[in-house]
Amino acid sequence: MLELRNITKRFGAVLANDHVNIKVKSGTIHAIVGENGAGKSTAMRIAYGFYTADEGEIIVDGQPRRIETPHDAIALGIGMVHQHFMLIEPMTVTENIVLGAEPGGAVALDLTKAAERIRKLSEEFRLAIDPHATIEHLSVGQQQRVELLKALYREAQLLILDEPTAVLAPQEVEELFAILRRMRAQGKTVVIITHKLDEVLAISDEVTVMRDGRVVGELQTSATNAAELARMMVGRDVLLRIEKPQAKPDSTVLSVEHLTVTARDGTQRLKGVSFQVRAAEIVGIAGVEGNGQTELIEALAGLIPHAQMSGRMEYLGRDIAPLDARSRRELGIAHIPEDRHRRGLLLDFDLKENSVLGVHYRPPVAVSLGSVLLDDGAIRKRTERIIEDFDVRPANPDLPARSLSGGNQQKLIIGREFVLQPKLLLVAQPTRGVDIGAIEFIHRKLVRLRDEGCAVLLVSAELEEVTALADRLLIIHDGEIVGEVDPTIATLEEIGLLMTGGKEQ
Ligand SMILES: Nc1ncnc2c1ncn2[C@@H]1O[C@H](COP(=O)(O)OP(=O)(O)OP(=O)(O)O)[C@@H](O)[C@H]1O
Ligand SMILES: [Mg+2]
Repeated sequence: MLELRNITKRFGAVLANDHVNIKVKSGTIHAIVGENGAGKSTAMRIAYGFYTADEGEIIVDGQPRRIETPHDAIALGIGMVHQHFMLIEPMTVTENIVLGAEPGGAVALDLTKAAERIRKLSEEFRLAIDPHATIEHLSVGQQQRVELLKALYREAQLLILDEPTAVLAPQEVEELFAILRRMRAQGKTVVIITHKLDEVLAISDEVTVMRDGRVVGELQTSATNAAELARMMVGRDVLLRIEKPQAKPDSTVLSVEHLTVTARDGTQRLKGVSFQVRAAEIVGIAGVEGNGQTELIEALAGLIPHAQMSGRMEYLGRDIAPLDARSRRELGIAHIPEDRHRRGLLLDFDLKENSVLGVHYRPPVAVSLGSVLLDDGAIRKRTERIIEDFDVRPANPDLPARSLSGGNQQKLIIGREFVLQPKLLLVAQPTRGVDIGAIEFIHRKLVRLRDEGCAVLLVSAELEEVTALADRLLIIHDGEIVGEVDPTIATLEEIGLLMTGGKEQ
């Protein structure tokens, strides 16, 4: 169905793809794996016409093709769901899907007909998307299904998915895989980029392994295993499990009592949540996405208007509810947000600027408190330290954040928050889109931060991640904490049951 032949692509000094050869057989599900920055997205963006290769050929259905724009790719039956969605927030599902898709042009659009087709497609693939919903009101998972619908609407025969599961809860992953298998059964071809080796093993027929811009392996999935794939990707053996010493929790750092959050539309997102986090412990929150964990973290970080909340939030014995986000950061509360593009970075700003977000107005970054004069030397030093400590690649402080691969953007954010030496770290989805080598690394850093006395509140949709990292695990469902379990004892089934609304016995 698709062949990339000797594809080479440079971005300035970076060789993102170096004579890449990838063959995707028709009617298969083909996985591409590799470390952050290995060149996976670049290769697939070239196949989709989003970038053009410097050298090499693209063969579609046996024919050499020029694919210079996504329009060319779409015309050849190639669809792509990007790592970061490309939807226009104030517009509806139907408007987004139809945009640029209709040969008749904007004037000839029949939105009612389009909406009807979208509704049918949504039903056929069980995507549960209302064609009339506005994008900004949809969850991340729903937005992804809109991207899927967009490709299906354009009758894609080959669907490229760039880290589709990074944003999904475990059940949603199962649903997505069911959709992909249905597509394969209909003769469609799927390329899936993922960092999760168990997913590769579960869903793919064949797998291509990339490292440093090159293809280093082509395997039949049935003839490989996670350890072999990991070794090929990283070039060394990788610890696939977290090893951590027993926590020695100290005094209470964060105390939350009867916290409620009411959304603008009047729905209660948090319904009287109470818990505590002590110094030197990691408290995990497990839950299906959309059950209040985002609101919980944002309420604590100071990102939700005071008027939408009630209850108490005490940090080191002090009521922080009236404080804004900046004041909370000054007190030692750091925040690693779940949505790195919306909350974590300014994509068009360079790494230096992104490294000092939130501390840009005070020394050592500003020459004096509130000054607009910044100390370039200090900023560069801080950035270089983050880059080095967190292995951000490429290690160039002057690059715009946009040009970093997804996993490297995440490492930059984590590094920025860690250098604050927080007393309380609010962290959501810390390893989303991060490769297995870097996951191991980030997990170690989180445990070390804990052992240095930081209180850590961790939200993750990765059940294995929260159970492995957390010293205590709270389960959230429908805005309420429905149970607390000892993660060393509780089984994934027990936790899963609580997450989906079964009450603790
Ligand atoms: N638009 C761009 N401008 C400059 N450099 C880029 C651009 N896009 C990618 N790169 C660089 O090319 C290399 C490959 O990036 P790519 O996004 O393809 O990696 P990836 O394998 O998809 O990584 P990840 O798993 O983190 O998503 C990286 O070094 C990245 O920084
Ligand atoms: Mg990528």
